[in-house]
Amino acid sequence: MSTETLTITDNRTGKQYEIPITQGAIRAMDLRQIKTGPKDFGIMSYDPAFANTASCRSAITFIDGEQGILRYRGYPIEQLAEQSTFLEVAHLILQGELPSAPQLRDFVNHITHHTFIHENITRFIDGFHHDAHPMGILVSTIAALSTFYPDAKRIFDAPARALQSHRLIAKTPTLAAFAYRHSIGRAYAYPDNDLSYTGNFLNMMFKQTELQYRPNPVLERALDVLFILHADHEQNCSASAMRGVGSSLADPYSAMAAATAALYGPRHGGANEVSVRMLREIGHVRNIPGYIKQVKAGEFRLQGFGHRIYKNYDPRARIIKRIADQVFEVTGKSPLIDIAVELERIALEDEYFISHRLYPNVDFYSGIIYEAMGFPLDMFPVLFAIGRTPGWLAQWQEMLVDTETAIARPRQVYIGSGQRDYTPMAER
Ligand code: CMC
Repeated sequence: MSTETLTITDNRTGKQYEIPITQGAIRAMDLRQIKTGPKDFGIMSYDPAFANTASCRSAITFIDGEQGILRYRGYPIEQLAEQSTFLEVAHLILQGELPSAPQLRDFVNHITHHTFIHENITRFIDGFHHDAHPMGILVSTIAALSTFYPDAKRIFDAPARALQSHRLIAKTPTLAAFAYRHSIGRAYAYPDNDLSYTGNFLNMMFKQTELQYRPNPVLERALDVLFILHADHEQNCSASAMRGVGSSLADPYSAMAAATAALYGPRHGGANEVSVRMLREIGHVRNIPGYIKQVKAGEFRLQGFGHRIYKNYDPRARIIKRIADQVFEVTGKSPLIDIAVELERIALEDEYFISHRLYPNVDFYSGIIYEAMGFPLDMFPVLFAIGRTPGWLAQWQEMLVDTETAIARPRQVYIGSGQRDYTPMAER
């Protein structure tokens, strides 16, 4: 019979330790008892980038990276992308269950009634330089919202938490669209609460002189599905930032500003933007082999490829590839898609990519769709942030109510100088 323990022999002392294994993990604190003597601090685990460290127990998102499986609250991403809406998924992620029809009506109503932002925030956006990256504007304005809602400090009050979550899901698209309108010098288009969540976002982005903006239903649905695909992805860099900052008991606006900042980088949510820049730079399918050669020589990475968890095809990329065809029927085919498909084909047959288990990720095809829909490149990570908002909030909430939560505070292995005496300036 197998025992759910791990036996460790410390070869320094010859002592043996039996450490419990729970749900496939040992507790790093159980290693601390392993000492060479009473003055020894005990063993720590060293894991830069948390490659094999679980920082929490979570019931939100399941990923099997070997098999390319992604589920929110147990529901396969393929079924949600096919059958649900983004707000239905947001409810699922936040509350743990798919909403009934009245629950969904209520939830949509709450979100819809928080889409407006205080006029002082619009003045704040006005103050940014015309070419400010919208992600920089988003990070700053999300943080600024915290100063407008002092009740956000009541983080252990469940209704107050729900209210901030509604506000953040509702206002992020408004901030995003206003950041874009500011960058092109166009008047802000205010929310239209008669439209769907995604339809209203398109309205705030693209409305011109028409009395009421009518989104194209195919594009509206495609963007809604893209938001679904981005809604959560367990303990990624930005979710960890959300939990890390939230663990100091900061308000959710401050924590989400940190999460958004984490998403900004090209190794995370910024990859969709650089991925399209890469496809443009490649310019033609005939240039792909040369480009791949440079990637293999270590000159740069293939953007939108590879993942810390997925060592098989990212299931989101597969769905996005299908959506692309629907979008192109409305917008016309993007010339970049042929380059992307050929790049994927060549890479997936190449020994380097096979041996490194590198496949297209969510950012490989999403940017091509966003571009075809008329979004400028620097809005791509912002679109990722809109989709990811419910996930960040669910992670934050789960962290707060977890009885095991304490302030996030990793250890270090100190490699600096030992104690030395201060040298007076004249003797240095
Ligand atoms: N192109 C070429 N080589 C790569 C790539 C790539 N895109 N990604 C990883 N590698 C190589 C890397 O050079 C290393 O090779 P070696 O072992 O020979 O030194 C090996 O694969 C492992 O790389 P790593 O950086 O240790 O892996 P990681 O798990 O830390 O990184 C990643 C994951 C997503 C940061 C990385 O694959 C990457 O930089 N990809 C490009 C950026 C990108 O597409 N990011 C979006 C991720 S999905 C959406 C999101 O979560 O935001």
